[in-house]
Amino acid sequence: MITQSSSGLLVLLSVGLSLILRNYSVSALSCGVCDPELCSPDPKDCPGGFTKGICNCCNVCAKLVNESCGGNFGLLGKCADNLRCYISPKVGQAITGQEEGICKGKK
Ligand SMILES: *[C@@H]1O[C@H](CO)[C@@H](O)[C@H](O)[C@H]1NC(C)=O
Repeated sequence: MITQSSSGLLVLLSVGLSLILRNYSVSALSCGVCDPELCSPDPKDCPGGFTKGICNCCNVCAKLVNESCGGNFGLLGKCADNLRCYISPKVGQAITGQEEGICKGKK
């Protein structure tokens, strides 16, 4: 039999856990304020030009045709201006926007 105090503890535990989980999913990627001074120097030789990195702060090379893009938090990068990141989810798979894609020319 569950006593009053232990069920209260259970509630606390599950509330705490859901808070932790929610925080985790929201702030797993914590970018903070963009300080360009903290960026490493711009990469050299970006045939596709620059784009902003994962926190929309530092310059990184844009991805070219057939290079991977997207992914969790967009970790795989963004396509060059004239390209789009196409994802091809497997049949039955939900599109979450976190999939890995391939840069292709816009149609
Ligand atoms: C990209 O991949 C497609 C399909 O594999 C291929 O036909 C095409 O030549 C590739 N393009 C470049 C620029 O590598």
